[in-house]
Amino acid sequence: MEKSTLIGPFKQIITMTGIPIKGAVKDSELHIVSDGGIIITGSTITKIGDFELLKESDKIAETITLKGNHVCVPGFIDAHTHICFGGSRTKDYAMRNAGKSYLEIAHAGGGIWDTVTQTRKATQEELTKSTIKLANRHLKNGTTTIEVKSGYGLSIDEELKMLRAIKEANITAMPDLIPTCLAAHMLPKDFQGTETAYLSEIAERLFPILKSEKLANRIDAFIEESAFSAEDIKDYFNTARAMQFDITVHADQFTPAGSKVAVNYKAISADHLEASTDNEIAILANSNTIAVALPGASIGLGCDFTPARKLLDAGAALAIASDHNPGSAPMGDLLTQASILGTFQKLTNAEVLSGITFRAAAALKLQDRGKLEEGLLADFAVFHSDNYQDILYNQGNLKPCMVWKDGNLVYDKHN
Ligand code: NIG
Ligand code: FE
Repeated sequence: MEKSTLIGPFKQIITMTGIPIKGAVKDSELHIVSDGGIIITGSTITKIGDFELLKESDKIAETITLKGNHVCVPGFIDAHTHICFGGSRTKDYAMRNAGKSYLEIAHAGGGIWDTVTQTRKATQEELTKSTIKLANRHLKNGTTTIEVKSGYGLSIDEELKMLRAIKEANITAMPDLIPTCLAAHMLPKDFQGTETAYLSEIAERLFPILKSEKLANRIDAFIEESAFSAEDIKDYFNTARAMQFDITVHADQFTPAGSKVAVNYKAISADHLEASTDNEIAILANSNTIAVALPGASIGLGCDFTPARKLLDAGAALAIASDHNPGSAPMGDLLTQASILGTFQKLTNAEVLSGITFRAAAALKLQDRGKLEEGLLADFAVFHSDNYQDILYNQGNLKPCMVWKDGNLVYDKHN
């Protein structure tokens, strides 16, 4: 029989048990195990309960006894990132803050296309290395699962290079990496043809390779005036659905349009939503599509935040992700950004924590994580505190002292 390890005592274990997937949540709805312990067997949690009682179990081969006050939460899940890229967009940031418009920056050689050019210059090995580095940096902040998009290749070969780099990075990176194909990020400047011609080439030639090489099971598209319209994307998403890919959408970032498309195609998630109006909020709330707020993009661009309070009050499922990318969201600090979104949008601790744990897991269709329960993965972050509210109160400045992934202590800053 596999040996079991008991860890504790934790002043508080925040399990996230019992909170519904949709709608507003009060802090009083959080299920908290006081003076608790967690038993791990292999990669999963086999029991959570009172530490002293668990100690008496005869199945435990090892006990890790913590000294001082500790709070334990599920490992954070970042459901939207672009951490596979080459180069930097430092100049965009400076130009933007000096008052230059999106178009002026693009004409000066910045914007998404700049990162495409720099990513195409990188080798697959270089991309693998830089992705592992960023993923491991996020792990130290408590993030144990990270979605990673392609979308800076924008040709069959270059998208394949990115997705192969992400697949390779997933072998070594400490967090789990969930790949998404974002070949529909923008019409590549070097493509001779229309939006629909580009999209049909990708669907015809790239989609089958994604399946055969198991490179990605998720298809994303940027629905925006500067990218693809609802009309452009029809055949692309129909093909994706027919091939049983999951769909996700960059929606309503600057103009409302994408969330309606997302709901029509039964997308798993609609992400961004900074420009969503009451109409889009109602559409999302009446659907099973998870609304994903990306406060890092609002902070990076100096734009409004996603109307998270309204979405929750309307009954939507709200996840919060970092959107970490070299252009619009260079900070890449999920906990800081989620805390700040909470401050500006008046979200409870329970709503923010739900948004970066089990609701984020749902945005990736992962049922084995996001809560601390028997049978789920032993992925959790531990903070020095006697009160879980300290985590968001410190707005990202309180870092985990330990992170566990798949039942292993992968980060320990304890002593
Ligand atoms: O999610 N909105 C489109 N795509 C990215 C930005 C990518 C970039 O600027 O490089 C986003 O914000
Ligand atoms: Fe994005």
